[in-house]
Amino acid sequence: MQKLARPLPPLAYGGDYNPEQWPLSAQLEDIDLMKAAGVSLVTLGVFSWAHLQPVPGVFEFDWLDEVIDRLHAAGISVDLATATASPPPWLTHQHPEILPITADGVTLWPGGRQAFCPSSPIYREHALALCRAMGERYGDHPAVVLWHVSNEIGCHNALCYCDVSAAAFRAWLQSKYADLDALNDAWGTAFWSQRYTEWAQILPPRTAANFPNPTQQWDFRRFSSDTLLAHFIAERDVLHEVSPGVPVTTNFMVMRHIKEMDYGRWAAELDVVSNDHYLIAADPEAHRELAFSADLTRGVAGGDPWLLMEHSTSAVNWQPRNVAKQPGELLRTSLAHVARGADSVLFFQWRASKAGAEKFHSGMLPHAGTDSRVWREVVGLGEVLQSIQAVTGARSANDVAILFDWDAWWGCELDSHPSIDITYRDQAEAFHAAFTDLGVGVDVVPPQADLSNYRLVVVPTLYTLSPETAARLSAAAEQATVLVTYFSGIVDADDHIITGGYPGLLRDLLGIRVEEFLPLREGESVQLDDASAADVWAEIVTVDSADVVARFADGPAAGGPALTRRTTEAGQAWYLATRLAADALRALCRRLIDESGVVPIAEGIPGVEFVRRIAADGRHWTFVINHTDIEICPNLVGVDLLTGQSGSRIGVKAGGVAVIEGA
Ligand code: GLA
Repeated sequence: MQKLARPLPPLAYGGDYNPEQWPLSAQLEDIDLMKAAGVSLVTLGVFSWAHLQPVPGVFEFDWLDEVIDRLHAAGISVDLATATASPPPWLTHQHPEILPITADGVTLWPGGRQAFCPSSPIYREHALALCRAMGERYGDHPAVVLWHVSNEIGCHNALCYCDVSAAAFRAWLQSKYADLDALNDAWGTAFWSQRYTEWAQILPPRTAANFPNPTQQWDFRRFSSDTLLAHFIAERDVLHEVSPGVPVTTNFMVMRHIKEMDYGRWAAELDVVSNDHYLIAADPEAHRELAFSADLTRGVAGGDPWLLMEHSTSAVNWQPRNVAKQPGELLRTSLAHVARGADSVLFFQWRASKAGAEKFHSGMLPHAGTDSRVWREVVGLGEVLQSIQAVTGARSANDVAILFDWDAWWGCELDSHPSIDITYRDQAEAFHAAFTDLGVGVDVVPPQADLSNYRLVVVPTLYTLSPETAARLSAAAEQATVLVTYFSGIVDADDHIITGGYPGLLRDLLGIRVEEFLPLREGESVQLDDASAADVWAEIVTVDSADVVARFADGPAAGGPALTRRTTEAGQAWYLATRLAADALRALCRRLIDESGVVPIAEGIPGVEFVRRIAADGRHWTFVINHTDIEICPNLVGVDLLTGQSGSRIGVKAGGVAVIEGA
């Protein structure tokens, strides 16, 4: 990426803007209201393909010219979408072969959005033509500070099983394995009479009579993620060519329920990482999932600041029960992202729609208009962001890292495993929540991250890891503390068990050997001899060069080790053989931070987040986000930029937020 053509606004504020849904009178009002709210950046054109290219070969840009010029005249910058996210009806009508097909053989018809197969060369050709036309027309426009490729790539069509995808999958496999023998070995096709003798016999893992081959399933996920990334790269390269100096992004979906894209590998291809995040309404503590996702977004961005590209002012429309945000929740959830490195607060969307599937989705300007709580909170948030603009560009420096890997997530949750209760992201989230309650800042990082500056590295249920990652964990444990949990290091990258006792490549590091898995029944729990409660999992652990810290007191592994610790030169390597209940996990995390010398940002209060950003010049800010219903007085000294309070007893109201400079 060359030097930036134009800077992004500091702590950019705004959202998706869809003026094509509105008459001119509303569009003129938009400008006045955006100024009143402090909007500095809008995302334009995300779903505008049908308006920009109403018929094949004909582009109509005049309406967009006017919108961009009007925004520019008002001092509002533009994140311009390439508009390729959703093909127009003429394209799918002309080429129904671009439609995606599910594993069950069901065609996903047009009528919603993103009705295309990610491997379709026809889709790619039309998308790149539009992308080039957009880039050539607007690349020099002074309002355009960012390119937004497609939208939430893979949101609805990540896994396509059509014949075009099948051919593309075979090509991907040929470049990975080169010859069929290698594929047969990797996929373990000696099992169940699956041996392939010609490439043409290989299909995506379509719905089968029984469990499809696990390595085939895993490779298909890798192929699908790579294919979507290849599309991003193709559009990005066009934009770099025709619009040099304008950074290119695409909005990730780092959220609990989305796992199809390996963002740990994608991030390096983006000029700036951006993320969309929506609260899970059914989860009364959804702010914890938000905190984890935001720390993970910073982790994939290599610690750099990133952009919060979308979240919501209040309810969404796509969950079964769309709970509205409570008063104050908009500020808390917005600053929870900023605290973790977001240099923008953007929403879907500026003005709530009157028609279409998202008409019940909240917006910055709600259906009720400006005489509404949501609008008042939106204006208030704009003012808050202006008062903390100094944090723009600041990073963080945490002592604790949690390792997180999409590839291991895919492998961990394949079918025909010892227990369906072994899931991946929830364990990583549980550790993150425990550290957060202890007032400790956490980085959630991909396995390739530099681990050398952490005092404590937690490795939850990492089903597979490379020999390089195992070596780096061993190196980290020489001078820091590493904790690995059950169901880690079980297989190699081909999903072949590493035999001789689990956890494969980590046995020496941990000084233990797991002989047998003893999964628990649904709802069953066990106790450890330190009175910790646990569930889901037990196993027979034999100790080699480690100490037993706690044993199973009952259950199928009664008497055997449940928590072990091996002391290294100047560090420790711990192993946890079960899933601890929340209070027991917090007690373990407290012990780990004490023993590894991690200093909390503040004395932890469950339900309160303490998160620090640090500028290059050493200035720093501690964000205090109080999700509880009592006022708190953390022992932090500085000046709260939100209320002006200063000193050592700054009060943070129930449900309130402080941004304490100097703390
Ligand atoms: C996603 C999309 C938006 C909108 C929102 C609704 O984030 O990118 O276009 O559909 O979801 O929450």
